[in-house]
Parts: sequence; C-alpha cells; structure tokens
Amino acid sequence: MAKKVVLAYSGGLDTSVAIKWLMNKGYEVICYMGDVGQGGDVISAKKRALKIGASKCVVGDLKKEFVTDYVYPTLKAGALYQGKYNLATALSRPLIARAMVKTAKAENADCVAHGCTGKGNDQVRFEVTFHVKAPGMKVFAPVREWELKTREQEIDYAKKHKIPIEQTKKKLYSVDHNIWGISVEGGDLEDPSLGPKDDTYISVSTAEKAPDKAEYVTVQFNKGVPVAINGKKFTPVELIQKLNKLGGKHGVGRMDMVEDRLVGIKSREVYEAPASEILYMAHEALEELVLDRETRRYKKGVSDRYSEIVYYGLWFTPLKKALDAFVASTQYEVFGEAKLKLYKGKVTICGRKSGNSRYKKDLATYGKGDVFDQSLAKGFIDLWAMPYRT
Ligand code: ARG
Repeated sequence: MAKKVVLAYSGGLDTSVAIKWLMNKGYEVICYMGDVGQGGDVISAKKRALKIGASKCVVGDLKKEFVTDYVYPTLKAGALYQGKYNLATALSRPLIARAMVKTAKAENADCVAHGCTGKGNDQVRFEVTFHVKAPGMKVFAPVREWELKTREQEIDYAKKHKIPIEQTKKKLYSVDHNIWGISVEGGDLEDPSLGPKDDTYISVSTAEKAPDKAEYVTVQFNKGVPVAINGKKFTPVELIQKLNKLGGKHGVGRMDMVEDRLVGIKSREVYEAPASEILYMAHEALEELVLDRETRRYKKGVSDRYSEIVYYGLWFTPLKKALDAFVASTQYEVFGEAKLKLYKGKVTICGRKSGNSRYKKDLATYGKGDVFDQSLAKGFIDLWAMPYRT
C-alpha cells in the first residue's frame, strides 16, 4: 500500500518544504488548504504545491462553517482568552484538522501532518483533534522533527530541492489570518517593552489615519447571534467581512497582549479583529439588558472556562459540548439591537434595545411614575445583614 499523508498546507515556506520532506520519507503527499478567510492567492499556492510534488491539493471553503459553528458559539459564550484574545487562530484549528481527517479518510491516507512548531498552541489544537477524530492515525509535525533550525536553512533546503518559494527575504512577523482575526507575532514584537510598529498594522488603520468623523452602526441580534447591520440582513460571512472593513477603517479592533501559552511560555502577540470587537461589545450590551443578574454572573465563569477550552485545543470534548448547551439556553432571550459609535480606534455603546428587556423604567426611575416600593428596602436590608450582626 502506498504511504499517503494529508498535509495542512498554507503555501508558505514551512509547509512547502514539508511537502518535499515528507516525499523524501517515501510518502505520497496530498495537500489540504482550508479557506477560513485568510485571503492570499489560493490558486498560485495550489499550483506551487503540485509543482513541488504533491499528488493533489484539496481546497475546502470552510468560511461559513467557521463563522456559524465556531465563531458564533464562542461569541455567544462571550469567551476571550485571558479576558482579551478572541481566539481567532485557536478556533480555526479544530475545523481545519477535522476537514483534514475527512480528506484523509476519503483519500485512503494513513497519516496527517501540519506545519506547526513545537513551541506553540496550534500543534496541540491540530493534534488533539486528529486524536479525537481519527484515533490511531499517524501524525507528522515536520517543523518539529526536521533538522532545519533557521529560516535560512529552510531556504537553502528549498533551493537545493528546487522548491519554488515566494519570498526569500527575511520574514518580519509570523502572521495567521482568518475572517475572525489576524494574529501577529515574532520580529520586533518579541520585545514586550516596545510598542508595536506601524508595519504590524494589516487590516486596521492607525487612530491617526482613521477618519475625523465618527460613524455609527447598529447591530441586530437573534438568539445571541448577529443577523443584520443597520436593519439590513447579511449572511454570517458577509456580516463579518462588512464589520471588519468598517471597524478597520476607524482603527477599531487592535489589541496588544502578553499571553500564557499552553506549553508554559509567555508570548507577545498583536491581534486585529475589528468585527469581533464590535460584536462582542454589542452582544454584551444586549445581555446587560435581557439576562437576569444570576445568569450573567454564572455565565462569566463559563466564558472564562470556554475560552480556555478553545485555547487549549479541547474543542471536540464533552465539557465544551456541555458548556455550549448552557450558553445556548441563555441565548434564547438575547435578541434586539445595539448601536455603536466607531471613532479613532474606539468603539462606544450608544444605545441598546430589546423586546425582551428586563430593564423596567418605572422601577429604575428617579423621576415621575416611580412604582418602586421603597418601604420594602428596610426589611430586606435587615435580613440581608442579619448573619453578620453580632
Ligand atoms: N497566540 C495565538 C494562539 O495561540 C496565535 C497563534 C498564531 N499566531 C501567529 N502569529 N502565527 O491562538
């Protein structure tokens, strides 16, 4: 039986060299490219894979599934890793890995491979998914296994084996890009005492270059999921693309953080995710209005746990499924809209409305029409304080 491997292919240097490396190990290489909205030239990447010697290059459009089945559940959960990172890269890995397993099964391949290093989170996310979806399947991680220690050595290997590569000059940053966000690390960013340079801006304008005039946007939600912008319905993919563009123009969605990787090191990363920043803020504004206090409070813990599960590569696990069920049950109530102002790098809430609001003006008001019975407060406080009175 021919030894066949399905390789997660990006078109970049690492995975291009990996094709040859796997071939030299005696494998027939089938490349898999998952389109999660990373942009770039898929056609020429595909051509390159075949030119290097891949027997096939399968391209899967995963954008819609990515948004509806990965991004939206995480948005509904309100999950941000360490309170900041929207998990864009982390969310794409289980989806791509699962699609690779499907391809491997369809192509009768007995191995899968990815181009992650041994220091990052992505190797974990890929491999946990492989183990869950195809227990026993052999996994290669060429970049972790081979002898090529530097980018220069990889370029030499590529030249020696006549591997066509796009750019030979020193790569400035390591960038992972999808429709939900862009992750930038490496290069000058490795010094956390320095601010990110302007060349780390990819989809977002600097505040200085953003328009001097604010723009307002209203997002409509149904069951915790955004369905329309300014009253106009969009498909999930279009909606995010539109908000990315709008937010990016106004300098919204940049984030600079030092995060704790699963493998135990701290790393400094800059993220761009304009649509995400707008949607998280709008979603929370709506939840403030419709969720009861105790559900909101409990959900906060779930948000944190959910973010860790995603970050740690545990997407296809029972706990994640159980938390999804909890989150979904809180989201039936979450419909309505939030209005936001985008201005010079900042998103501000300018209003929220819901047919399901728990906000009762007649109870809250200090003005006319107050129906709150203040005489009840004394008894309430007496009992509330009782356990603590000596
Ligand atoms: N630190 C982020 C994560 O683990 C992003 C990883 C990929 N980043 C990159 N620049 N290649 O999810």
